[in-house]
Amino acid sequence: MFATSPARKHASKQALYADLLEQANALFEGEHDFIANAANLAALLFHSLPDLNWAGFYFFKEEALVLGPFQGKPACVRIAMGKGVCGTAARDRKTIVVPDVDKFPGHIACDSASRSEIVIPLVRFDRVIGVLDLDSPSLARFDEEDRRGLEALADVFLNATDVGD
Ligand code: SME
Repeated sequence: MFATSPARKHASKQALYADLLEQANALFEGEHDFIANAANLAALLFHSLPDLNWAGFYFFKEEALVLGPFQGKPACVRIAMGKGVCGTAARDRKTIVVPDVDKFPGHIACDSASRSEIVIPLVRFDRVIGVLDLDSPSLARFDEEDRRGLEALADVFLNATDVGD
């Protein structure tokens, strides 16, 4: 599906993520503000990656993951550590790729259109500060290349942004 979309201007997913890394670096250049950079990264991802219905952040505060900047429909505001895909990725400090959300026990359905999901934990100086979450209306939308590409983008965000350290 990915290579045959008519709107595709990148030869491969790898090329798309390389382009996104460049764009993210340019967006963050000289800007350390947490909300501004998170909002811009959510918008960049949502409008550049095909087949998404949600892209955004949850940040860890007051003992829960609290909704941050995002693109897509309004979403659940607070997710407890260890709950849902987001809370599990944050607790385990590991990216989770969910090919079919109906098969992930405890998945929290914010948008009923979501069929697959990827959640990248954001770890800074050994502290989980939140997660980056992307949802798709297609089954098995996210693969290893998405994981690598999104983890690299999350690193660029963390290095460029004042996240309370
Ligand atoms: N599905 C997530 C909840 C967040 S929304 O997808 C935006 C979860 O199970 O943690």
